[in-house]
Amino acid sequence: MKITFNPDLKLFRLACGEMEYGFAVNNDGQLMNLHWGAPMLSDRDYSLLLSDRAVMANGSRDCNSGEYRFGAPFDYAAPAIRVRFPDGAETLRLVYKSHEIDEDTLTVTLADSFYPLEVRLVYKTFADLPLISRSAVITNNCSGEVILRSAMSATVQLPRGVEWRLTHYAGEWGAEYERQQSRLGQGRIVLETSYLTDAAAHIVPFFALDEEGRSTETDGEVYFGALQYSGDFKIIVESQHTQLLKRASVTAGVNDFTSEIPLASGESFETPSLIVGFSNSGFGHMSEILYDWQFDHILPRGKKTDKAHAVRPVIYNTWYPYEFDIDEKKLIDFIPKAKYIGAELYVIDDGWMKGRSNDKRGLGDWFIDEERFPHGLRYISDKAHEAGMMFGIWVEPEMVNPDSDLYRAHPDWVLSEPNRERSLMRTQLILDMSRDDITDWTIDWLDRLIEDAKLDYLKWDMNREASEIGLYQLERGVAVKYMKNIERIWKHLNEKFPDLLLENCASGGGRADYGMLPYADRVNRSDNADPIDVMLLHEGYSTLFVPKLAGGAGNVSPSPNYVNRRVVPLEYRVNSGMTGSMSVGVNLLKSDQTELDALRDAVSRFKQLRPALQDAYVYRIASANEHPYSVLQYTKRDRSQFTLFAFAHGMHQWDKQLPRFRMRGLDPNAVYVSESGNRLSGAALMNSGISLNMFGDYYSHTETWRVID
Ligand code: GLA
Repeated sequence: MKITFNPDLKLFRLACGEMEYGFAVNNDGQLMNLHWGAPMLSDRDYSLLLSDRAVMANGSRDCNSGEYRFGAPFDYAAPAIRVRFPDGAETLRLVYKSHEIDEDTLTVTLADSFYPLEVRLVYKTFADLPLISRSAVITNNCSGEVILRSAMSATVQLPRGVEWRLTHYAGEWGAEYERQQSRLGQGRIVLETSYLTDAAAHIVPFFALDEEGRSTETDGEVYFGALQYSGDFKIIVESQHTQLLKRASVTAGVNDFTSEIPLASGESFETPSLIVGFSNSGFGHMSEILYDWQFDHILPRGKKTDKAHAVRPVIYNTWYPYEFDIDEKKLIDFIPKAKYIGAELYVIDDGWMKGRSNDKRGLGDWFIDEERFPHGLRYISDKAHEAGMMFGIWVEPEMVNPDSDLYRAHPDWVLSEPNRERSLMRTQLILDMSRDDITDWTIDWLDRLIEDAKLDYLKWDMNREASEIGLYQLERGVAVKYMKNIERIWKHLNEKFPDLLLENCASGGGRADYGMLPYADRVNRSDNADPIDVMLLHEGYSTLFVPKLAGGAGNVSPSPNYVNRRVVPLEYRVNSGMTGSMSVGVNLLKSDQTELDALRDAVSRFKQLRPALQDAYVYRIASANEHPYSVLQYTKRDRSQFTLFAFAHGMHQWDKQLPRFRMRGLDPNAVYVSESGNRLSGAALMNSGISLNMFGDYYSHTETWRVID
């Protein structure tokens, strides 16, 4: 990684492995983007671009390459920043003021040419990863309040003259991370959410662009980016076709539709980060880059163990077996069974709080229900610890049921409007977490709960979206403050309890995003744990997120599955569970000895493979989007071993004519040996491949290959 500034050309270059990013200050003092893509050789390479951008063919200035678009004259693309100054003026003229290079970070300060408003653009690099993060810090030095009508993280420009295909991931509860692709053409595609929080339940704040849709899993250039934000976001991808040139750019950040940010005199607003990266060899390599960034740069570290690189414990979770119908006897009875199958962490899900025997009561009253659990939470925690397991519980801190002591005491604590009925979703309302006092209160009870119950793990859930926070609260900047405070709590938990494992859950994968990842050790991938649907879900999920985080209440799911009533053999379910952070959701109190032993064997096999599976890249060798099967290759990051997962369902006669499946990312010169004794060089595995005899329904197969010396 190298960040340089050439004072003669006023040129900034960020050289990040196979990606380079460059921009310069033009004669008007404005920042112009020049390059994002494969590396350039020298500063001289930029001269042509510089003269090109300074004056267009017809003599007019190039107003379309703004590095942080502010609505420069004749730039009609979506701006990254819009303001209202105290005197009512709404235009901005941002010019270069100064810059600073501090090892891996470049900060460029821009200032308005008239009003005392500053914007600091921050560029962070990550060793040699072809990826940078961008954010902006906007400071109001005017004597009165400035309204930020829009304050995006960044604008990035794409190579010119290209027809782009946009790829993004979207879905719904139980059907998250569906890959969606569209041609950009001339115009604007806006990916945005306005639910207040849990954007990823609908659209993951991510985009990828490739030329004319030509890139594949293995080939072609991919320009990609993602916001580190869980709240309402907006990603504007647009292509302007002017003077016979196609110019595409992306501007992304907090969604201005649900947020205005009032900045008092002297105040600053820091945007969330937008990461942007570049793969020179397809979408598979894009995943590798995103994985390296997660493993080595953003996942929480912990104190005793390096959590980012450590394996995740096998969980037994009580949700699927009994949902809210739990009591002390059942929970204690589970402990020896969970231990027997090899679980390492015992989790009580929803239903443990006062009155919480259904979803209509109890949220907000974070005390154990003494009627159903006469000896308290600590008693169960101690029993789990005595059995040699870790212990964790479920909470949903942002919510309150109207039927709760908390709501009766503080009806004014929820997000609401004075003259509107408070609409319920899952019989619950949202606490106004934009308020600092409510945030402090939350931190206080969480701290006590974690300490008193000796928790090793906390599953943080969030199960509804906003209503009745219309424009009236837009001006208060509620949406942004809400997310800042959520982040404040997660940050606090990480700092105060560095070895506590935190699961980020929001009705399943509602918060599967890079904003939460720096604080979370596990992500609920989806509430849909049906392993046939998981073929699709996991493909989208594992394109973006490291699979060791992929959780859920029981990804070794009960059968029939509660989402679609499908009955699936145990072997298929456990093989599916091995692809993520394994949690068993089967009702062990009803399992016979054969099932318990089968689970015990499966967990034990998983534990042997786990260090490699959870430090791996995932290659999507055959996609369930295109076939009635899915073949995934988990390759340890040092390339010394890989496990092949094959899942098939609904195969037909003619599906027997399967291709050979060519592996990826191996050492071509090494010899790998499979569990069944086959030996092949990495070159043969990649260039000739492996044949798989998949057939019928519920076919699953795993096979591990290791390098021999
Ligand atoms: C959400 C979660 C589930 C479970 C339930 C409990 O749906 O995604 O895993 O915790 O809530 O109410």
